Amino acid sequence: MSANTAFGVYVHWPFCAAKCPYCDFNSHVHHGAFDEESFVKAYVKEIEATARRAPGRLVESIFFGGGTPSLMNPKSAAAILDAIARNWQVADNAEVTLEANPTSVEAERFRGYREAGVNRVSLGVQSLRPEPLAKLGRLHSVDDAVAAVRLAQSIFDRSSFDIIYARPDQTLEAWDDELTDALALSDGHLSLYQLTIESGTRYFDLFHAGKLKMPSEDLSADMFELTQERTAAYGLPAYEISNHARPGQESRHNLVYWRYGEYAGIGPGAHGRLLIGGVRHATAAEKMPFKWWEKVMETGDGLVADDNLTWDEEGDEYLVMGLRLREGIDPGRYQALARRPLTQVQISHLMDIGFIETLPNGRLRVTEKGWPVLDAVVADLAA
Ligand SMILES: C[S@@+](CC[C@H](N)C(=O)[O-])C[C@H]1O[C@@H](n2cnc3c(N)ncnc32)[C@H](O)[C@@H]1O
Ligand code: SF4
Repeated sequence: MSANTAFGVYVHWPFCAAKCPYCDFNSHVHHGAFDEESFVKAYVKEIEATARRAPGRLVESIFFGGGTPSLMNPKSAAAILDAIARNWQVADNAEVTLEANPTSVEAERFRGYREAGVNRVSLGVQSLRPEPLAKLGRLHSVDDAVAAVRLAQSIFDRSSFDIIYARPDQTLEAWDDELTDALALSDGHLSLYQLTIESGTRYFDLFHAGKLKMPSEDLSADMFELTQERTAAYGLPAYEISNHARPGQESRHNLVYWRYGEYAGIGPGAHGRLLIGGVRHATAAEKMPFKWWEKVMETGDGLVADDNLTWDEEGDEYLVMGLRLREGIDPGRYQALARRPLTQVQISHLMDIGFIETLPNGRLRVTEKGWPVLDAVVADLAA
């Protein structure tokens, strides 16, 4: 990929109304007065600086992620979208997604976001059952979530929502039941994540104190298998390990990451991959919101890392991202990135044990049997 090929812009909004006990995303609760307009000025500056380094791109997708971007004033989203359009060309059919929490207060802003140029929302429903929702520390009820999903479906051309499963105390039958409701509520795209215990979270402490009864490995595997079966039968097959869509409704922005494309990261803690002079740069911005703001206002960008990736690192990243996809990876692209082919011995071994397969078009993918041990398969192939 070079200049003039499509790329995505990720915009990170780092604030949340409360910190959920399972979440290790770069999200912060701010107390006291907050001047959103002046905070947004730093986004505009950082977009300008990034466009100077990576000019002439065609923006195919924009993603407001968080944190909770639905806490933003729609005017802020509009100002950021305008800055992107002033600094790069934005494709007529660009996908513009905003992550939203499904409280009633946030749902009231949906129309404002659509007027600002957002055409897709992704809602963090997390559970369609009241008790787990409360345990996940969510600030919305099941009814709020269902109402927000329906409202989003009526306002935006495309929408999706997230559910977390393999939660403490969840049975296979209970998940089957909840998944049936989630599918009935969905419209073209659904993200279904198995709960991960992340270090540094309250769930991590509870888990290590023996206070969270997580499903066994076998039960998690059964839940995963059931999820694949039910979603495929409903017409929303997995196109990525945790993401399901009616064909054609996949998240184009996330496909930029998984297909190892080029993207700019804007905002506190945002990561980017920019191709500059034929070299792939891995960028990362300062995570703390107000430190990031100060740095951008002083120097023009919030970068704390800007590393040239080695060929090996590019090859590894391509495997880590691409093997999550049902379409798999192109061994020729791996060779072009890593400047060496995949190891034939490893491929044969993983094929013999049924964890990977080649497709008629020559691509290589992880089988359904291999998906539950995806990380180990990737590590083996990258070795
Ligand atoms: C950036 S987060 C949240 C977006 C939005 N603030 C919300 O909470 O609805 C994106 C998604 O990651 C998922 N997620 C976050 N932490 C997780 C964890 N520990 N295990 C599994 N999924 C997680 C949730 O489904 C969440 O909706
Ligand atoms: S899950 Fe969403 S709302 Fe909760 S802390 Fe993380 S980013 Fe914020």
